[in-house]
Amino acid sequence: MNEALDPTRAGASNLEPLVDPDTFPLLAGARTAGRPLAYLDSAASAQKPAAVLDRMRDFYTHDYANIHRGVYPLSERSTEAYEDARARVARFLNAKSDEIVFTRGATEAINLVAYSYGERFLEAGDRILVSAIEHHANIVPWQALRDRRGLKLEVIPIDGNGRYRYGRAREAGRGCCAGLHHGGAPTRWAP
Ligand SMILES: Cc1ncc(COP(=O)(O)O)c(C=O)c1O
Repeated sequence: MNEALDPTRAGASNLEPLVDPDTFPLLAGARTAGRPLAYLDSAASAQKPAAVLDRMRDFYTHDYANIHRGVYPLSERSTEAYEDARARVARFLNAKSDEIVFTRGATEAINLVAYSYGERFLEAGDRILVSAIEHHANIVPWQALRDRRGLKLEVIPIDGNGRYRYGRAREAGRGCCAGLHHGGAPTRWAP
């Protein structure tokens, strides 16, 4: 294995998590093969910290109902909580509230961008750039868009050190760069 990709290399044991694992009930004290569990598959299923679990339990216990559709208190409280979450996410990202769209997951979100932005703004001959380590959630929607709109889908290769080899991708031209840096943690290493 390339040294840069070897998790057992010198210094790797000094890596400390940015967030205390005890914040996550599932990870607190969890061990695998006699060692503390390091969970890296968050792109597929993110573990939830206690604050999220508590809020979800509280919400489902006291407020849960349709949002934006009901004119009864449960629904109004649910709508308020939902919109409050949108406003908080917007502040966190320094965006406007109406720029935040919640989806059920990555595949749905990327399809939404491909069908809305892609169908509206990309024209025959335009290029879509993805990297060679994308999860298929970030490939299939672009392949389908390419076929529908007559686009070019270009893949940026990764070298033995895990670095992008941009090559022709740097050439000027119309197109869009589709969420590089989207490798799956258990199977790939994103530079
Ligand atoms: C790296 C990565 N990206 C995207 C996805 C797809 O995510 P979703 O299930 O939210 O569509 C997964 C799911 O396993 C994943 O591991």
